[in-house]
Amino acid sequence: MRKLTKRSLISISVATVLSLGLSACMEDASPKVTNTAKDNSGLKRAIDGGVTYDVINGKFGVYAVNEKAHNGKIKFGRTPTKEEYDEWSSDVHFTGEGLPEGQGTAEEGSEIYDAKCVMCHGDFGSGGGGYPALSKGNAYEMQKSLTNQRLKPDDDGPVRFFGSYWPKASTLWWYIKDAMPHPQTDSLSDDEVYALVAYTLNINEMEIDGQEVDDEYVLNRENFLKIQMPNKDGFEPQIEGPDAEKHIRAYYANPKNFGGQTYNVKNPASRCMTNCQEPTVKVAYIQNGGISDFHPPLTDVRDLPKEKKDLKNFNAQKAYNESCAMCHETGAAPAPGDKAAWSGLLEKGIDKVYEAGIKGTEAGMPAKGGASMSDSEFKMVVDYIVNQSK
Ligand code: HEC
Ligand code: HEC
Repeated sequence: MRKLTKRSLISISVATVLSLGLSACMEDASPKVTNTAKDNSGLKRAIDGGVTYDVINGKFGVYAVNEKAHNGKIKFGRTPTKEEYDEWSSDVHFTGEGLPEGQGTAEEGSEIYDAKCVMCHGDFGSGGGGYPALSKGNAYEMQKSLTNQRLKPDDDGPVRFFGSYWPKASTLWWYIKDAMPHPQTDSLSDDEVYALVAYTLNINEMEIDGQEVDDEYVLNRENFLKIQMPNKDGFEPQIEGPDAEKHIRAYYANPKNFGGQTYNVKNPASRCMTNCQEPTVKVAYIQNGGISDFHPPLTDVRDLPKEKKDLKNFNAQKAYNESCAMCHETGAAPAPGDKAAWSGLLEKGIDKVYEAGIKGTEAGMPAKGGASMSDSEFKMVVDYIVNQSK
């Protein structure tokens, strides 16, 4: 029998999904998971609220074909055969499960790369044009860019790509084997995949077990399993496995883990519930286009902005600098003084311009520029802009 290709399987599975979706609508809006041990057990929730599906015949419940749902009503789609399942379902686990024997060098990988990958992923994996970069330099250095941007804002970070970000190399092996090259998935031999992985490690300047993955390095199953990704500990909390709950509790017990900067001063171990955030905490740093001093303060005031009766103390220029300049001064939006742009906008009349600004526009102006201010205050800021454009 001709080996089924992924492409023919896609059409089968699309039909199957469609038929499942339709019949689900006809019978019962809430998706039910069939459990082989106990029928219709309903949805199980993991501790983070996500749905946990039962594994049925080795497939997650969502992908299992619910024979009952077909019910003779819909005549297209059929249960895939075991061979089709097996062909579709490849997985390479970081434990080594699913990872075949084989070998390849970065040099061999480089040749395959130039023949089959470079047209999309660029020279040396540089990426671009919508295609992901496979390297952006030394992976160990780039991993350092993944700091918590609230605690330690960094102009150049975070830079996320395979080398800096992915916690396991097994994903790379599996992804290349199963999904690349984009138009001919699953066409590479295992040795070719080893070579391409070696090449990817090479352009990421990575080491295995203290040894540099240079051109001649022979990557095989044994040393592949020794790869330690620079960001292997970067994903917290660990929400899978028997210790999931313990990990989650430990993680959330420490506000520093998720950017929380304040805690109850008198009792640092407890989570702070009221008025904890210092009003001057700086969170956002927008530093492109030369605005390096835009540090909007967090506020502990949770009331909606009140309409101020006395607008005399409202400083429109200051409000403009704080809430509008990051777009209107950077070329992202018409600048004050851009007479042509503003006279165009003003043709519809100033009231319509106010209204457009207050409600926001599809062309990119967020409602009130995303700022908390009253309508009257916002109009004063618009006047401030418009007056400079006369
Ligand atoms: C026709 C264009 C094309 C070709 C050829 C191609 N890729 Fe890709 N590749 C893509 C696209 C598009 C994505 C992103 C897919 C997505 O995110 O859904 C991608 C993603 C990847 C990723 C995941 C990167 C990431 O950070 O998410 C890897 C690894 C990869 N390709 C490796 C390869 C290798 C190795 C080859 C050669 C055997 C190859 N690709 C050939 C288009 C291509
Ligand atoms: C996130 C970027 C962004 C911010 C912040 C922003 N604007 Fe805009 N604004 C735009 C863009 C883009 C346009 C041009 C598109 C348009 O006219 O809708 C625009 C247009 C406008 C217009 C013309 C609307 C129209 O169509 O007549 C006014 C008025 C305006 N902005 C006022 C402000 C004021 C006042 C602030 C600050 C309180 C502000 N904007 C903050 C992006 C922004």
